[in-house]
Amino acid sequence: MNLINGKAVAQKILLEIRTEVEKLKLRGHVPGLAVVLVGDDPASRAYVRSKDKTCHELGMYSQKFELPAATTQEELVALVRKLNADPAIHGILVQSPPPPHIDESAVIEAIDPRKDVDGFHPVNVAKVVLGAEDAFVPCTPLGCQRLLIEAGVETAGAHVVVLGRSMIVGKPMALLLMQKGPGGDATVTVAHSRTRDLAAVCRTADILIAAIGKPEFVKADFVKEGAVVIDVGINRVADASTASGTKLVGDVAFAEVAPKCRAITPVPGGVGPMTIAMLMHNTVQACTRLAG
Ligand code: GUN
Repeated sequence: MNLINGKAVAQKILLEIRTEVEKLKLRGHVPGLAVVLVGDDPASRAYVRSKDKTCHELGMYSQKFELPAATTQEELVALVRKLNADPAIHGILVQSPPPPHIDESAVIEAIDPRKDVDGFHPVNVAKVVLGAEDAFVPCTPLGCQRLLIEAGVETAGAHVVVLGRSMIVGKPMALLLMQKGPGGDATVTVAHSRTRDLAAVCRTADILIAAIGKPEFVKADFVKEGAVVIDVGINRVADASTASGTKLVGDVAFAEVAPKCRAITPVPGGVGPMTIAMLMHNTVQACTRLAG
């Protein structure tokens, strides 16, 4: 079994991005990212801090907005519009999910598609479906695809099962894998909580991408001997043996699944760091395009 070291691959990519940032700076442009969090979900807060920190490490500009849970939709949309008009900001990310009183679609649709580094705006969703070169692709599936390429996992002709159908991961992941070209050309099945005989369907996968959002859901009987498993899950669960009383686990029951795999990503240190690297990549792209 091979462990796919997402952290190491992400660090290599961040070094490349740093060089691009330096080149942009020589031309007078500093890539700028605005990260907006509404409410005080601890996991979201940790992600937002990590995105902000990575920007600083790369010499990019970043603005972090941590708004109270009572923020109204109108206030949030007004902030997005202000950021749309701010020439120092090239990428806008509103952390998902927002509190229930906020209509997330309306907020996403307020973002200028040219600054939509999450790839959530309908214009970018359509561009991904069309395979347009200037699409902003959602960071997590883009990171998974890049990880497969960097790890030398051949997707062409492979049967990939994507477990999960979210707009953030499952749906765009399936679209990327079925596109022509590197990291694509796969035969894709999208499976989910309502799929009949889910374990049997997953067991047909040469590559299994677990993005169902349930801790350690994928057991050994979901995985074919010699398969590659990409674990997108980040779930905090109780664990009396740690100082904090909690630990992070993926959507895959790692201990029982890993021995069957040709290769597998760990949690943490797998897909997570790749997601942040792709966000930085998208922000540099946005800056390059907006700078003209
Ligand atoms: N919540 C979980 N993943 C993401 C992401 O990639 N972007 C945003 N905005 N929210 C998320």
